[in-house]
Amino acid sequence: MKIEKICCIGAGYVGGPTMAVIAQKNPKIKVTIVDINSDRIAAWNSPDLSKLPIYEPGLAEIISETRDKNLFFSTDVDTAIDEAEMIFISVNTPTKTYGKGKGQAADLKYIELCARNIAKVATTDKIVVEKSTLPVRTAETIKSILQNSGNGINFHILSNPEFLAEGTAIEDLLSPDRVLIGGESEEAIESLANVYASWVSQNQILRTNLWSSELSKLTANAFLAQRVSSINAISELCEHTEANVDEVAKAIGMDSRIGSKFLKASVGFGGSCFQKDILNLVYISRSYGLNEVADYWEQVIIMNDHQKRRFSDKLIKTLYNTVSGKKISILGWAFKKDTNDTRESAAIYVTDHLLNEQALVSVYDPKVPEQKVYSDLNYLNSRTEQENEDFVTVDKSPYSALKGSHAVAIMTEWDEFKEYDWEKIYSEMKKPAFIFDGRNILNKGKMQDIGFEYYSIGQ
Ligand code: UDX
Ligand code: ADP
Repeated sequence: MKIEKICCIGAGYVGGPTMAVIAQKNPKIKVTIVDINSDRIAAWNSPDLSKLPIYEPGLAEIISETRDKNLFFSTDVDTAIDEAEMIFISVNTPTKTYGKGKGQAADLKYIELCARNIAKVATTDKIVVEKSTLPVRTAETIKSILQNSGNGINFHILSNPEFLAEGTAIEDLLSPDRVLIGGESEEAIESLANVYASWVSQNQILRTNLWSSELSKLTANAFLAQRVSSINAISELCEHTEANVDEVAKAIGMDSRIGSKFLKASVGFGGSCFQKDILNLVYISRSYGLNEVADYWEQVIIMNDHQKRRFSDKLIKTLYNTVSGKKISILGWAFKKDTNDTRESAAIYVTDHLLNEQALVSVYDPKVPEQKVYSDLNYLNSRTEQENEDFVTVDKSPYSALKGSHAVAIMTEWDEFKEYDWEKIYSEMKKPAFIFDGRNILNKGKMQDIGFEYYSIGQ
């Protein structure tokens, strides 16, 4: 099938950057990204590129090059579906917060709504591509809904998982390690492969069956998250043995069988994928009665929760066992640097714990807006919205966030944190002034010379 028009349902962290790059590399294909959230679409269409809903290095440049040429953002979902030969589903698949599988299984209601919508409005044959991370065998659900639509249209389902990491999305899309396409129809697979072949070499485009493709995505994230939990487990041991976790990571990373990536000890991994995908893996394994497999992967999450918890416990213990009424500054709210995404960020959980201990928290993040900090805390339902507003301030400047505080907790590895005038910060903090570096980004010796009591992970 020759692809002239592509529709992408879901203008989020996955759909936005992925389609921007597909449009840039395929100027002859018209790409329309649709979303039911009209504010989000308006933000994507904003003439002021600093107002795009997603911050991602390099994204604004590609949007300005392609938008309204062959890349369009719209709320008219039905028209875009009907005119496209290929439809990507990039809607969110959060963990269920109700009913069976609550807290573990993926909530597929948005996916199902999309499939029903496609079935309702399509008048020509379509290739439907799963882009969102989905539990294994979701393609079957989509297929069943589409094939029972009764209007005689042929649908081919492909799984094409996204491996981009936020903060480096454009780089990852432009030079992917591989592109994975799973499907049953060779012709449909090749149609999608051709879209990628505009900039990715054929030998990096991997073709598999549908289920291998779906499972590979969950497995890739589980392996990556497992490495972070593994090094974080070792970080706790380092703190008791005077070994230095960064030295250990370097030493083991030089073993080519292990490799150096994803060995940075931290206050715990966050993001929309790792926890959700592992929970999915655990849920699926248990549903097949594979309890040992489920327990094995669940431990990665348990370790991650422990790492976040022990970070805030250590802060409280070091501040003489109480933070009640003390100003504590949080530097960084995003789950990693170079993104404005805060989903599952360790900062949320550490702050929640400090608020339970009646701390007065001030937050600074270079890219996360004030309202997002409050909505993340309100979502936990740990206290009233008014209490969150009373106990938390969100500052526009790091220096005001840090002024007069007893301790600073570094939650995100933003580069700019390293460049701050730490002598000035020290002079304006309460003494003793404590730094809890959840990302090991500051120079310990330098901070101690300034006068800080400096604590990091695994050192
Ligand atoms: C991840 C996968 O990397 C990507 O392939 C998939 O498509 C989506 O999920 P993302 O969540 O955007 O991407 O970011 P990633 O760079 O993987 O980081 C996840 C979390 O792990 C972050 O909180 C990060 O700070 C943390 N992390 C990562 C560490 O703590 N240490 C490391 O060494 C690496
Ligand atoms: P991801 O990180 O997976 O891209 P996001 O939450 O950033 O997740 O984006 C998913 C987008 O999908 C949201 O903007 C949401 O409004 C949109 N969406 C969800 N369901 C539908 C639907 N049925 N039709 C159109 N858009 C949808």
